[in-house]
Formats: sequence, C-alpha cells, structure tokens
Amino acid sequence: MIELRGVKKRFGSQVVLDGVDFDVREGETVALLGPSGTGKSVLLKTVIGLIRPDAGQVIVDGKDVPHLKRAELSELRKTIGYVFQNGALFDSLDVYENVRLGIVDESKFKDEKYARERVAQCIKLVNLQPDAVMSQFPAQLSGGMRKRVGIARAIAGEPKYLLYDEPTSGLDPVNADIIDALVQRLDQELGVTSVMVTHDVRGAFRVANRLALLSEGKVVMQGTPQEFLASEHPKVKAFLERDFDNTQFAA
Ligand SMILES: Nc1ncnc2c1ncn2[C@@H]1O[C@H](COP(=O)(O)OP(=O)(O)O)[C@@H](O)[C@H]1O
Ligand SMILES: [Mg+2]
Repeated sequence: MIELRGVKKRFGSQVVLDGVDFDVREGETVALLGPSGTGKSVLLKTVIGLIRPDAGQVIVDGKDVPHLKRAELSELRKTIGYVFQNGALFDSLDVYENVRLGIVDESKFKDEKYARERVAQCIKLVNLQPDAVMSQFPAQLSGGMRKRVGIARAIAGEPKYLLYDEPTSGLDPVNADIIDALVQRLDQELGVTSVMVTHDVRGAFRVANRLALLSEGKVVMQGTPQEFLASEHPKVKAFLERDFDNTQFAA
C-alpha cells in the first residue's frame, strides 16, 4: 500500500505540492491525472524517494520513505518498477543490457543464463520479439518500442509496484492504445499494483480502477471512473471536458 498524507513540496518560491493526500491499495491500478506542470512527476518521485517532501508523510508498505536509510531505501526500491517519462534508456547499451539493468537482485543480474531468459521473457511480455530486438540499440527503435522496452526493464526485477510516468505521451493514438492495453494486461498477469501518471483522460478511463486528479497542489478527487463522470466538482468537470474536447479535436 502507498499512502501520501499532507505531502508538501516547493522549489524556491514555487509551491508544487500543497498538502497531497493520495492512496494506492494492493492490486489496484490508479491513474493520477492532471494538467502538465501540476506536479505529477514530482509526486511519483516522492514515492521512490528521489524527491524528499518538505512536509507530510510518504508511506510504502508501512515504511516511512523520506526517512529511510540508504540501504533501506535501496531495498524498498527493489519492489518498485519505475517507467520514466522519456523511457530513459541508455543509448550506448543494446536492448538486452537495458532490460537486464532492471534485474535488481545482484546474483540474478550476474547470472548470465538467468539474465538472458528473464530479459527474453520480459520482452515477450511487452509484445516484442526477443530475437528481433535484443541486440538493437535504442536509436534503432520507434518511440512506441522504446516505451515498451522501458516497461520491460521496469518489470524485469519482478516488482510488487509499477509506477508509470506518462507511458503514452508522445505516441500516436494507435500506439497509445497498445501501451494502455499492455498496462492493463500486465496488471492482470503479474498481479502488480500500479500507478499511471497521465494527462490522457481517455487512456486513464480505459486502464484504471480508480482515478485521482491533481490540481493546484492537491488531489481534489479520488474515485472510480463512474464517480468521476458523475462528479459535480468544478475542477473535475473542467478537466474532463477540456480533455474530451481535445480528444475530439484530435480525432
Ligand atoms: N527538481 C526540480 N527543481 C525545480 N523545479 C522542479 C523540479 N522538478 C519539478 N519542478 C517543477 O515542478 C513543477 C511540476 O513538475 P512536474 O511534476 O514535472 O509536472 P507534471 O509531471 O505534472 O507535468 C514544474 O513547474 C517543474 O518545473
Ligand atoms: Mg511529468
């Protein structure tokens, strides 16, 4: 379980998170929505201890993340797969080595036979062909393929949690749908608990059991897709209408 209580974060005079309460329960897929620049990535980074809040609590599996010692934090991070917004693949490493970096257990990482098998397995899980892509370099892949390799790396360490930062941003609608379907399938097949940060309302509604809307430093609503659609909250309505209009506009 992931619990954020009253989390605050500012950069200089800019208040980004202003008392965020946010929960993710075991087995859920939660979409964290919000316009660009509202602090979605910052929030996600507090969960893995990459950003330390100024105030409030970040608790993962009962552990107080901002106050963990280095060794404890690195143990906790082994249970969390993180899909970075830009894929964050290493250009100088081929797909095999990139995905292998996701194997967090040191002895498994060094075991060449295990690593080959695990990497091939993860590449198949994201609907790519190991024989075709393992020896390719990130620059040789399409945007959608790079996103999938990023996801393969995140699952390679058999995480309990998967945190996706905008997994469909920059993709065309067809490839975005493929990634959304993949997120959904991985949650079912691997039984992971996921948080998907996105500004894509359509994708969020397709994939998530529960949604949360971040706006002006706070989570203004958490609820099921049905509850969001029925909400009279002005910020929820404005966000949904804005995005549905954009979707129509783009179609
Ligand atoms: N390390 C940082 N230093 C200074 N400002 C930051 C840092 N990280 C994020 N910000 C600022 O915090 C705000 C929220 O950023 P971000 O979480 O990336 O937004 P989102 O992911 O919702 O688009 C932005 O204005 C961004 O410039
Ligand atoms: Mg972001």
